[in-house]
Amino acid sequence: MDISIGKIVTESEMNIMKDQPNHDNHQTNIENKDTLTNRQGHPVTNNQNVRTVGKRGPATLENYDFIEKISHFDREPVPERVVHARGAGAHGYFETYGTVGDEPVAKYTRAKVFQEKGKQTPVFVRFSTVIHGRHSPETVRDPRGFAVKFYTEDGNWDLVGNNLKIFFIRDAMKFPDMIHAFRPDPVSNVPDSEQFFDFCSNSPESFHMVTFVYSPWGIPANYRMMQGSGVNTYKWVNKDGEAVLVKYHWEPKQGIKNLTVKEANEIQATNFSHATQDLYEAIEKGDYPEWELFVQIMSDDEHPELDFDPLDDTKLWPADHFPWLPVGRMVLNKNPENFFTEVEQAAFGTGVLVDGLDFSDDKMLQGRTFSYSDTQRYRVGSNYLQLPINAAKKRVATNQEGGQMRYQAEHPKGNPHINYEPSILGGLKEAEQIGKEYTPKVEGNLVRESIDRQSNTKQAGETYRNFEEWERDELISNLVGDLSQCDKRIQDKMIALAEEADEEYGRRLREGLATAAKDGSSKNPIGNKDSEKAPQQAVEKGHDADPY
Ligand code: HEM
Repeated sequence: MDISIGKIVTESEMNIMKDQPNHDNHQTNIENKDTLTNRQGHPVTNNQNVRTVGKRGPATLENYDFIEKISHFDREPVPERVVHARGAGAHGYFETYGTVGDEPVAKYTRAKVFQEKGKQTPVFVRFSTVIHGRHSPETVRDPRGFAVKFYTEDGNWDLVGNNLKIFFIRDAMKFPDMIHAFRPDPVSNVPDSEQFFDFCSNSPESFHMVTFVYSPWGIPANYRMMQGSGVNTYKWVNKDGEAVLVKYHWEPKQGIKNLTVKEANEIQATNFSHATQDLYEAIEKGDYPEWELFVQIMSDDEHPELDFDPLDDTKLWPADHFPWLPVGRMVLNKNPENFFTEVEQAAFGTGVLVDGLDFSDDKMLQGRTFSYSDTQRYRVGSNYLQLPINAAKKRVATNQEGGQMRYQAEHPKGNPHINYEPSILGGLKEAEQIGKEYTPKVEGNLVRESIDRQSNTKQAGETYRNFEEWERDELISNLVGDLSQCDKRIQDKMIALAEEADEEYGRRLREGLATAAKDGSSKNPIGNKDSEKAPQQAVEKGHDADPY
């Protein structure tokens, strides 16, 4: 038997070796499948003690195992996502119905992922909260991210959405300001809902989203029991190069559950990772979460008959005019093997589309499309698409070279010397375009202007009226709780928006604020009205202890 230092020894070889007396006298570094090694592959024989001169030190600097271990640990943190830092993920598959409602899906899109009833495409999904950091509580009042990576036969398609179907703003220019206003104060690092309402009251397009976020819909019970939506308007393109506008919606088979602030606080008091745990454990025990995918379709034009713009992501498309049409289902049936390599390094982007799917002129969508891959080149690195979680599960062949941490050339097998195109010496060739190219005509003056048909509060009023009574009570109580801490000018603007949306909504908010305790000086996180008392409570409740 060949037993050399560093060789992986099989279990049967180990058993034979155990039967051989004195073997260990001259072979100390024997390895089996459980043996700890360093990253150079050297078996580690002492993982408890640094190397020192005598038992009490000092330590020496040539101790490779220690230096490798500690310096890798020092580099464990990487930049977290600038938004949506807190999340959980899982693998699964998407199964297409081959139809959209009663019609063959090919009538509207040539994307292969949707053709042939029953075809399955692997997916990876990441759910998230938006505003706070990587380990923040999962009970916060916040939209939830719902990002799906489809590893299709034509390459990857990412559908990067949220649980709620609309958004706070409609222009990408405002996104960094919005996020800054929702984040903790840049000086004290204490969350401050006054800044949230300062931004929102001065951005009336956000009122519909505020109405959702301050209702129980702002605290989904977990990731399995929430809807998903692409939010922005996309396009489908068929084989003749004809396009329609589409919105995507995920509907959970598990049903939808939301929490009141009191219920959320009770959960958070014992566990601030409950949603991650819920998803992980459901999949571990084979209770696989499932969602059905629906689309709404509109012809590709401005739709002057509507009182909103189809490209405005602060609006719902009314289901009675634009029915939800089922197109497939998604099942999550496998947990990640490692959180960091799969969930943390996963990179989704709205620019990642396949043939048959296209962008619309939605200004938010275009801003997002720049932002995602830009941040991922910084957050994960310029070769982030070579990581297994992000790589397409099909042939990838580019002429790209270099970049940090590149471990694989993507050159053709034939002539690896030709890393450019065109060439008669070899190398990669352009693909043949099969479907007719979609070539929308674009014309107009370059301007910096808002869209017409803003209709900022009408749908917020409809949403208010569609809520159940307890949801309206919760909404008013949450808004009053936070707004009562805000500057009077901000309160007045929010009341005016609510009055514009619905007479009762406005009246209840006005009356609630008139009777609420006024203390304009305190700060409190979004949606937790008594939280400003927490520092004082900690002092009062704290038990005295003597120094030792
Ligand atoms: C102009 C507006 C927006 C900009 C500039 C923007 C930008 C970003 C950025 C930079 C990230 C971090 C990506 C990463 O590090 O991998 C991110 C994550 C995310 N965004 Fe947006 N975003 C915008 C609007 C939206 C909207 C409207 C939605 C919902 C439809 C959304 C959903 C998400 C989700 C789900 C993630 C997390 C993806 C993941 O799980 O890795 N974002 N966004």
